[in-house]
Amino acid sequence: MKHLISPSLLAADFSNLKAEIEMINKSDADWIHLDIMDGVFVPNISKFDVHLMIEQPDNYIAAFKNAGADLYNVHYEACRHLHRTIGAIHQGGMEAGVTLNPHTPIACLEDIITDVELVLLMSVNPGFGGQKFITGTYSKLTQLKELILRKNSKALIQVDGGVDASNAKQLVDYGADVLVAGSYIFKSPNPTQTISKLKTLSF
Ligand code: DX5
Ligand code: ZN
Repeated sequence: MKHLISPSLLAADFSNLKAEIEMINKSDADWIHLDIMDGVFVPNISKFDVHLMIEQPDNYIAAFKNAGADLYNVHYEACRHLHRTIGAIHQGGMEAGVTLNPHTPIACLEDIITDVELVLLMSVNPGFGGQKFITGTYSKLTQLKELILRKNSKALIQVDGGVDASNAKQLVDYGADVLVAGSYIFKSPNPTQTISKLKTLSF
């Protein structure tokens, strides 16, 4: 499958969010990536994957479904009862994703990989845009791809953090299906063109 691009709104101009979202909608982007940290911000847009970097994400499933979220993505490290949380997300009418921090091994997904639609590998430590890509992500991609094939899972692989021209092609070659990019898109002189470059992998 052709890889997908999900611009991260964290790096967008929050004082001009409407125009930023319109730019994304008109571009070659496939999804919109929305990071939720502490405090909940419920936007009024219809096509987005929501990445919850908070404890007890179960509390907000209905709110995000009502706001139009398509995919609800929780951190492995934040969910004591991950299997139950994934079930609640599906019950709530959304696709479910699970995120691994850089220190969390792929082996943790062994018994959940067939239940999720997406796995997000964090390629920076979560919390900020503009951080340096962690190169250990490549070997995790190889391990995750192997797990997905072995278990016959349909999960897409998403990578988030420090994605730019220097690593995007390699990430796709290693099996990434969805590239999240924040600073690389929104700090560039022509974000629409930068999204196209990420889509075509021509830099
Ligand atoms: C980091 C967030 C990312 C962030 C990526 O905690 O999950 O989505 O926006 O930003 P860049 O692409 O600038 O690393
Ligand atoms: Zn994110």
